[in-house]
Amino acid sequence: MTNTPVTYHLFTRADAEELSRLLGEVFAHRDPPAVAVGLTASEFQTFVRLYGPKADAEGLTVVARSAATGEMIGALLAEDSASAPPDGFDQLSSKFNPIFDILGQLDTEYFAARPRRLGESLHLFLLGVAQGFAGHGIAQQLVAESLACGGRKGYRMAVTEATNKTSQHVFRKLGFFERVRRSYCDHLFEGQAHFVSITDQGGPMLMNREITP
Ligand SMILES: CC(C)(COP(=O)(O)OP(=O)(O)OC[C@H]1O[C@@H](n2cnc3c(N)ncnc32)[C@H](O)[C@@H]1OP(=O)(O)O)[C@@H](O)C(=O)NCCC(=O)NCCS
Repeated sequence: MTNTPVTYHLFTRADAEELSRLLGEVFAHRDPPAVAVGLTASEFQTFVRLYGPKADAEGLTVVARSAATGEMIGALLAEDSASAPPDGFDQLSSKFNPIFDILGQLDTEYFAARPRRLGESLHLFLLGVAQGFAGHGIAQQLVAESLACGGRKGYRMAVTEATNKTSQHVFRKLGFFERVRRSYCDHLFEGQAHFVSITDQGGPMLMNREITP
């Protein structure tokens, strides 16, 4: 799938700073909703940094490194869908609020009929690949590695909120199906439309698939 020699590893606390720097840059510049609300790399980095201790404790997050340089070039931050969010959301920029609102709507609808229980559902949360390495199958391999890791730990379902056409394509290719969708065009938060600049992306989708042992 890729010509770039890449190694895949489970995240450890030693990766924390590089992970937040990578995902901060990738999301602030290329994730459509983050771009639409004007989040900076530093603001997004603060958000990712909150998840470091949890990612280390849960052992579900996968990172990709260039085999040539050792540089982190991709990551998939994953968590147990039923575990508590980290502390510190009060430190975050209020620019996140429209994003939390639209993605929260997907989760509220999906989980209304499915009580969350620890150890059952893997949440594939932040998937990012550095710009210079895009299009080499690294995201697809990160998802495959994360599913394999979750499967070994006993998870039988994986869930994600895919915010754009590329990530939706990646997850579809890896066997995910659309379950809930919202529209960027129709969304209002506190009476304001925050996503008018990204209506070409349609809307975010909650997608899931079973993980077979
Ligand atoms: C989404 C992202 C992680 C994909 O990483 P990547 O390593 O380039 O992905 P891959 O190379 O594994 O696969 C990309 C696939 O999307 C396809 N694709 C590219 N642009 C596309 C588009 N506009 N619409 C649909 N599919 C698209 C590619 O053709 C490829 O599919 P193929 O293998 O069938 O040809 C990367 O673009 C990224 O980091 N984006 C910014 C952050 C982000 O949006 N994260 C997802 C949030 S849910």
